Amino acid sequence: MTVTQNPRGLDDPAIRARVEELLVDMTLAEKAGQLTQYFKFNLPEGEGTVGDMPQKRGEVEDALERGEAGSLLFVTDPAETNRLQRLTVEGSRQGIPALFGFDVIHGLRTILPVPIALAASWDPETIERGQAVAAREARAVGIHWTFAPMVDIARDPRWGRIVEGAGEDPYLGSAVAAAQVRGFQGDQLGTPERVVAGPKHFAGYGAAIGGRDYDEVDLSDQQLWNIYLPPFKAAIDAGAGNIMTAYMPLNGVPATGNRWLLTEVLRNQWGFNGFLVSDANAVRNLVTHGFASDLTDAAARAADAGLDLEMAISDPAYAHLPEAVESGAVSIEAVDACVRRILEVKLRLGLFDDPYVDEDHARTVLADPAHRQVAREAAQRSAVLLRNEGTLLPLNAEQLRSVAVLGPLADSKRDTLGPWVFDYNLDETVTVLAGLRDRLGDQAEVRYAPGVRPAQRTFPSMFEMFPGNANPDPEGFDDDAELQRAVELARTSDVAVLVLGEWHGMIGEAASRSSLELPGRQLELLHAVSATGTPVVLLVMNGRPLDLRWAAKNVPAILDIWYPGTQGGAAVADLLLGDVAPGGKLPFTWPRTVGQVPMIYSHTTSFEPQNQGKRYWDEESTPLFPFGHGLSYGTFTYSDLTLSRETVSRDGHLTASITVTNTGDRAGDEVAQLYIHQRHGAAARPVRELKGFQRLHIGAGEARTVQFEIGPDELRYWNAAARDFIVDATTFDVGIGSDSTVQLTATFATTA
Ligand code: NOJ
Repeated sequence: MTVTQNPRGLDDPAIRARVEELLVDMTLAEKAGQLTQYFKFNLPEGEGTVGDMPQKRGEVEDALERGEAGSLLFVTDPAETNRLQRLTVEGSRQGIPALFGFDVIHGLRTILPVPIALAASWDPETIERGQAVAAREARAVGIHWTFAPMVDIARDPRWGRIVEGAGEDPYLGSAVAAAQVRGFQGDQLGTPERVVAGPKHFAGYGAAIGGRDYDEVDLSDQQLWNIYLPPFKAAIDAGAGNIMTAYMPLNGVPATGNRWLLTEVLRNQWGFNGFLVSDANAVRNLVTHGFASDLTDAAARAADAGLDLEMAISDPAYAHLPEAVESGAVSIEAVDACVRRILEVKLRLGLFDDPYVDEDHARTVLADPAHRQVAREAAQRSAVLLRNEGTLLPLNAEQLRSVAVLGPLADSKRDTLGPWVFDYNLDETVTVLAGLRDRLGDQAEVRYAPGVRPAQRTFPSMFEMFPGNANPDPEGFDDDAELQRAVELARTSDVAVLVLGEWHGMIGEAASRSSLELPGRQLELLHAVSATGTPVVLLVMNGRPLDLRWAAKNVPAILDIWYPGTQGGAAVADLLLGDVAPGGKLPFTWPRTVGQVPMIYSHTTSFEPQNQGKRYWDEESTPLFPFGHGLSYGTFTYSDLTLSRETVSRDGHLTASITVTNTGDRAGDEVAQLYIHQRHGAAARPVRELKGFQRLHIGAGEARTVQFEIGPDELRYWNAAARDFIVDATTFDVGIGSDSTVQLTATFATTA
């Protein structure tokens, strides 16, 4: 397998010459420094620490001036990036500029919907456009590189980081990964107004046992190659210049010291020639794992495995690299190879020529109203209409006199933005309440009551050390009286819009959960409001599936709005009033209850006893909503599925086409999804697998014919007996439809 990734890189003679010139003049300590990335928090300083983090005061500045900090993270203020950059460029002996990285996960100042929501758009163009805005804002303030996209497949919603990825499926995950890389990075590394993309966490982090963050991961080879690695491969093929290693051990070997993973697979097999960074403190953690004997051993083994840059909060393990080289624990060639890759990226980004940013320009970029429009469209396209009984939605603005907007998430700016944001502007943030008030103006009275107090985590979030991240717990909140007030508003309104879900600190890193229930008294509020008889629209604010069994039977309209970002409330108003139609689809299987977890659509079949697929005696074995599910304001029928050929050679191609008709009386969006199933062969293959999708906008009464190519890329899989990718000579079933329950009615054969 060959890739033409990063064609300019060290192959460029001018870059190579400059790299060698710097390298030859570098001390071992300076080399280790280039391979060290420090956190630099902008937090109130405590006694010898920064916030709760045990970073010594001045540690970073000192290291920069000694030429012993090659990279920093968490600096987002352009004046501060300039100040720190000046320290290294003007203060250190060689004057090598620092590389600034940050978690620009779904926007910097303009916050996009969370990544799982972007994935739910099933729309690579929307995703690319959104992340290009994020990149533009980041680059303007002096950030050169983002620790994104997270391309970890997540099949266990107890794992809080499901919100940062693209869900359960490798095909959708690969498409979303590539779109994000293109958005962040542009056509090539060094594109103006873009940043280096750093897909993470290599590899398998999403399979943490029990959904417990950071816990160990055991994956069979076929799971790794067929499910967990493909999004990384897609991101690398799209040009990603960086990869971040995972915290946990993969099949017993910590990812950050795993030579097979980092060098054999990533560099030798895939041809990745960018640079590798560890997750925070993950090199030091090689000792915690009981893998390395001490920090010198940790540094030696990480560098030997191919890890270029250590991300450290304090006291980096890579500070021990000089002694590791001197004792022969790691070769100088291995260390030099890492240093070359760090210098190379700095040169390719043009940092030596232009290390600083223009602070006025940064202000202009951050204020660009076009960014807000991109965020609004992304939020519109991410929402998933889970249920719409009696076509309650869209609401008819003409007939609406009063709306009750209920639930504490309905007017929480901070929650509207979701997790993994630090530089947001709350003044620009539009909640659901504000969006509806703005959209309806004097036309209808929009009244608000929180109904219940914000629920709290049993154990606080580590992100609470950042300003604005603690969950408010209003004093003097009279729970029963507030619930009654909300019910009363609902009773006296034409429609009740409830916003329920999880507070932003309940999802994300270190936010695993042992249940999927609506936290606090939210379900009680939903029951009480529904009992008034006023039609209820439930808006779900979430990053993981929640237990909505009651709502799915009793609430007529359910729209998943995720954490929709800066313009979330405006987008929600657009959707509820029918200015635009929802068209998102679920990027994961939505279980009924936590007891069904993990649950995926692409399982295999096996022994089928008499009870027709019933696996639990106390609950259905089907999900609440299938993977790929999502409604719109149109009604779609699929007809005339045809395949261009009945047989193909194993390296041949065929085309599947189908006509999608909107038989409804409103325009709408639909994502046509192609699934295949291999009937027999050298392995038992899943009952169905997604192998193509296209998001369509179809007017009322109109029809569109769509085509999908099927070829070896879609048919091959990694076989545990052959220990390689193969295409079987067999029969495939094909179906194209609205979600992963589509009947597979067409067939073709692959010939030997
Ligand atoms: C730890 C997280 O696992 C990783 O995703 C993130 O990029 C780093 N911290 C830096 O914030």
